[in-house]
Amino acid sequence: MSVFSALESPSETTSYVGRQHELAQVRSFLSRSRLLTLTGVGGVGKSRLARRFATEVRRAFPDGVRLVDFTSICDGRSVVPTVVEAFGLPECIGDTGIDAVAKELANKQSLLVLDNCEHLVEACAKFADAALRAAPGLRILATSRETLSILGECVLPVPSLSVPPAGVTLSPAALDEYDAVRLFVDRADAMVSGFVLDDRNAAAVATLCRRLDGIPLEIEIAALRLRALSVHQIVERLPNRFQLLTTSSSVARSPLHRDARASAQWSSELCSKHERALWARLSVFPGEFDLEAGEKVGAGSGMRADDVVYYLTHLVKKSILVRIDQDSRARYWLPETFRCYGRELLSESGDEASVMLRYRDWCKSSVPPATSGGPKPIRTAVKEPVAAPTLMARPAAGTEARFVLTRRELQIAELVSQGLRDKEIGAILMIAPRTVESHVEHIRVKLGFRSRTQIAAWVSRPIKSPL
Ligand SMILES: Nc1ncnc2c1ncn2[C@@H]1O[C@H](COP(=O)(O)OP(=O)(O)OP(=O)(O)O)[C@@H](O)[C@H]1O
Ligand SMILES: [Mg+2]
Repeated sequence: MSVFSALESPSETTSYVGRQHELAQVRSFLSRSRLLTLTGVGGVGKSRLARRFATEVRRAFPDGVRLVDFTSICDGRSVVPTVVEAFGLPECIGDTGIDAVAKELANKQSLLVLDNCEHLVEACAKFADAALRAAPGLRILATSRETLSILGECVLPVPSLSVPPAGVTLSPAALDEYDAVRLFVDRADAMVSGFVLDDRNAAAVATLCRRLDGIPLEIEIAALRLRALSVHQIVERLPNRFQLLTTSSSVARSPLHRDARASAQWSSELCSKHERALWARLSVFPGEFDLEAGEKVGAGSGMRADDVVYYLTHLVKKSILVRIDQDSRARYWLPETFRCYGRELLSESGDEASVMLRYRDWCKSSVPPATSGGPKPIRTAVKEPVAAPTLMARPAAGTEARFVLTRRELQIAELVSQGLRDKEIGAILMIAPRTVESHVEHIRVKLGFRSRTQIAAWVSRPIKSPL
């Protein structure tokens, strides 16, 4: 099995979309710093970006560009021998490997790409540090879900591809401006020859790209489904995300890229028990939340509020939780695949009932009451997002209501908990029963419940009761 490549020739077999801005950023960072790490959620395109950059700049490095892919390496002790092998150096014993690489690179101008380091962070960090000290002409571009955290490291979080805003109908031509759409159409065309974005499928493609959070891996896997399904059918099946976003290993570059679950599971395996527990608890938030909210819902069963900030920082560092800076305060958000995976972890943890009730109580206590008449709504601090949850601090693509419980939904949830039927709720709120029904369905999906009864229980039960 080959774990290295000298990047002698470009090896891309599929089209590359967008990323001009990020490529320029990589160039600029690497001109100022000798170690740059590309971070970001699984499948967002870190490796592809690094390879693309390395291919583009290979002539600027007279002594070559090397790429070492650690995907199939499981043991930190194999890091140095793998790099030694990539440089074609004779096999070394113990720490002599670093000396051999250092000697090889000492007077050379070269770029070393360390790809997929997150499961070997410590060993990669140690190697990078030693190699950079020994070889002044060396630059390292690493990709890792988790930063290497060594002195001199620059970090560039790779954002998801741009997605169309929610709530606006755009023409096929206008949709083509969004990188996520362009990627889907490219892959769709390869799958179903003659696939075009037209008025009949434009809205479904836009919804799909948005609900896949603009993550290239998920977009590629979804496009594979076009063999058997229409875009509309793919969107309909998205609630069963893990069944939908899966493919055969022969198509995927590595087992990690076989499906959305494998990608989330990989991140989960890199977490400590407490980090995983917090991930599970934070998955109850249907949208963005702030630290105070995270502490309220996350603390409990042996985890103190003080611990929450500690583990939450780790989840950000491992590219599981996405940090969004708004109004000078950090907010956080779980990409949908990680959120769904977190909900699975939560239901297996035995903690689900108490966490959901803490979340409910936090909703009730955090926002000023509505000033208008009508039934008193449950209060909530979940704000309508001003920005779509792009995975990074990039300009927002639009709003996405699926991530938040609206005030109207919270009102309806309270009325459901009073045992009222859709017709009665409709009469109180002066809306059609069918509208109420659709609100109830939205609430159910957002909260990850299976039934109306669970919504009622969530609103009204005291904190200690099981759901
Ligand atoms: N800009 C892009 N244009 C086209 N395809 C892309 C782009 N970015 C990523 N891809 C494709 O998406 C898939 C996932 O990309 P990649 O392996 O780079 O993700 P990653 O962030 O490195 O994931 P991981 O954290 O699992 O290592 C790959 O098949 C890749 O070719
Ligand atoms: Mg990668």
